[in-house]
Amino acid sequence: MGEEQLVVRKIKDGTVLDHVEQGRALKVLEALNIDGKDGNVVTVAMNVISKKLGKKDIIKIENRFLKPEETNRIALIAPRATVNIIRNYQVVEKRRVDIPDTFVNVFKCPNPTCISNSNEPISHIIDTVRKNPPLLKCRYCSRLFSPNELI
Ligand code: CTP
Ligand code: ZN
Repeated sequence: MGEEQLVVRKIKDGTVLDHVEQGRALKVLEALNIDGKDGNVVTVAMNVISKKLGKKDIIKIENRFLKPEETNRIALIAPRATVNIIRNYQVVEKRRVDIPDTFVNVFKCPNPTCISNSNEPISHIIDTVRKNPPLLKCRYCSRLFSPNELI
């Protein structure tokens, strides 16, 4: 049982993103497009003591069961995250995140003069060139970059 029980209660149904790298919780929410506007309870805990990571962030999204295609969007920001699907208080699925081949509208290209950062109505498309260590490439300007340029 997670030692963070003292600070965040268990949820009945939803998704728990555990072992998120310390300080990355808000970036994770941004990558998932979770802003609280759908009315579901979202709990964020930062700098929780973890045996595995020293300190970690945790996000609990109630009443939403995120699919792998959704949670894989956070793989560059929180590569060690554990995704827990909770139904009726039980962890019914536990999985990791995997870097997808392409990110569509998850991140902006780090090149400020890239056409995808202009006012043109085009998507932000980033391709994965290499997973380990991660290397990304903008579909528009071909700029190569590593995840730390996104964080
Ligand atoms: N959790 C929750 N609500 C539940 C069940 C679990 O919020 N009803 C949370 C726990 O607090 C923990 C995560 O989901 O943050 C995973 O739960 P569990 O697998 O029970 O914890 P651990 O065994 O510590 O997980 P791991 O082995 O992945 O570290
Ligand atoms: Zn670009």
